[in-house]
Amino acid sequence: MAETPRADLLVLFGGAGDLARRMLLPSLYFLDADGFLPERFKVVAAARSEMTREAFLDLLRADLTARPEGLDETVWTRFSARLDYVAADATTAEGLAPLKPHMAAAKLPIFYLALSPSLYARVCVALAAAGFASDDSRIVLEKPIGRDLESSRGINVAVGAVFDEARIFRIDHYLGKETVQNLMALRFANTLFEPLWNNLTIDHVQITVAETEGVGERWPYYDEYGALRDMLQNHMLQLLCLVAMEPPADMEPDSVRNEKVKVLRSLRPFTRAEAHKDSVRGQYGEGVVGGRAVSGYEKERGQASDTETFVALRADIDNWRWAGVPFFLRTGKRLPERRTQIAIQFKPVPHSIFGGSASEDLVANRLVIDLQPDEDIELLLMNKAPGISRGGMRLQSLPLSLSLLRSYEGPGARRRIAYERLLLDVIVGNSTLFVRRDEVEAAWRWVDGVADAWREAGMAPKPYAAGSWGPAGAFALIERSERAWYD
Ligand code: BG6
Repeated sequence: MAETPRADLLVLFGGAGDLARRMLLPSLYFLDADGFLPERFKVVAAARSEMTREAFLDLLRADLTARPEGLDETVWTRFSARLDYVAADATTAEGLAPLKPHMAAAKLPIFYLALSPSLYARVCVALAAAGFASDDSRIVLEKPIGRDLESSRGINVAVGAVFDEARIFRIDHYLGKETVQNLMALRFANTLFEPLWNNLTIDHVQITVAETEGVGERWPYYDEYGALRDMLQNHMLQLLCLVAMEPPADMEPDSVRNEKVKVLRSLRPFTRAEAHKDSVRGQYGEGVVGGRAVSGYEKERGQASDTETFVALRADIDNWRWAGVPFFLRTGKRLPERRTQIAIQFKPVPHSIFGGSASEDLVANRLVIDLQPDEDIELLLMNKAPGISRGGMRLQSLPLSLSLLRSYEGPGARRRIAYERLLLDVIVGNSTLFVRRDEVEAAWRWVDGVADAWREAGMAPKPYAAGSWGPAGAFALIERSERAWYD
C-alpha cells in the first residue's frame, strides 16, 4: 500500500452531537490510549452552540468515565491536551471564521461531517469559500449519501467540485467492524472455502440485522428514510458484497472496491411484478421487547406514517458464481433480539449412504458468521452421534467454532468501536474500507428499483408487534422457496 501523509488535524462538525459523543470522540480517545494518534495531532469539535473548551472537556470526560472501560487519567491528560471546542456555523464561510487559527496551524486537516446529509453540499462550498479545502485536506461523510440515486449524485457532484475522489472518505461503519473485516480473511486467507464458494455448493445466503431498539427520538430523520434506505442500502449491501465479491488482486482500495461494484451491478433489478412475492415491508406496533412494554412507531412519531421499520427481501445476483443462489436479507427495529448474522447454507450431500434413522439425521452444512452481539464463526458439520443404537449409526450436527469471543479475553483486550479502525484509516489516508462514489450510486440504483416497485405495487408497510420477527409475510417470503430463517 502506497504511503500517504498522516493528518495533523481533525475538525469534527457536529462535534457536540450524539454520534460524536457516543462513537467518534471515544474512538479517538482509545486510539490515543493505544499510541495510534500522530504526535502533534489535534482534534477540534465544532458545533453551533456556544460552549467553552472547559465545558466541552467536562462533558467528554463524563462520557468516557461512564463507559465500561472507565477513564485512564494518564491517557485523558494526553488526549484532552489535543482537544478544543469551537462554536462555528459550517454552512457559510463567515460562520467558519472562528476555525482560522486552527486551520493556519494545520498542514493536513480532515473535515468530518457528522451532520445531516442535506448539509453536505453547503458545507463543502463554505469550506472552499473560507479557503480551508486545500489540496491536502480530506473529507469524511457519514451515510446515507442522499435519499436516492438523484440526490446522492447531487451530493457527490457538490462534494467532488471541492475535493477529489481520493480525498473523500464515505463511511459505512459496518466496514470497520472486526468480524466484517474477518470475512475477507476467512474467504481469502484460507484455501478451504473459496473452491466451495459458488452455486455448485451453496444453496442460499441469509443476512439478518435485527435490532431491539425502536426509532424513538430519531424519527425526524428516520421517517424520511425507513429501513430500506437507513440499513439495507448501505450496511446490508456492503455485507452482501463482501460475501459475494470475486477475490480482489490485492488489498489496494480500488482493487477491493472494483470487485464490490461488480456485485452491485449484477444485482437483478427489482420490478413491480416481484415486489409482493420477493419483499416485505413492515412497521412495528406496540408490543413487548425484553420484558418491557413498548409503544408502536406511529405513537412515537405522533401521527400516521408510511415508513417501514422492517424489510425482508430476496436478492438475486446474476453472474456465473451466484446464478440460482438467492440472498435473503432482513432487517428491522423492535425485533426480539439484537443479532447481526450471515448464514451461508450449503447444499445437502448428493446421496446418503446412511440408511434408517441416520438418513433422517442428515443436515446440510452451514457456515454461520455472527457479527453482533457476540462475534463468532461456526461451521456446522455432521458427526456420528456417540454410542450405539439399535438401528445402526446415528448422526448429529455439531459446530466447529472459532470462538472469537475468547480473543477478547485477557488483560487490556477489549472490543474496539468500529469507528476506531476507520478514523485511523482516514488519518493515514487508506480508503480500502470506505465507499467509492460509483459504489454508492450502484447501491442506490438498485434500492431505487425496490422503492419504485413498492410504490407501483401500492405496498404499504404491514404492521407487526414489537418483539416479534416482523410481519408473517417475511416467513412466507423465504418459505416460498422451501427454506426457512434461522431464528
Ligand atoms: C446506523 C443506522 O447506521 O446503524 C441506525 O442509522 C442503526 O438506525 C445503526 O441502529 C446500527 O448500527 P450497529 O453498529 O449498532 O449495528
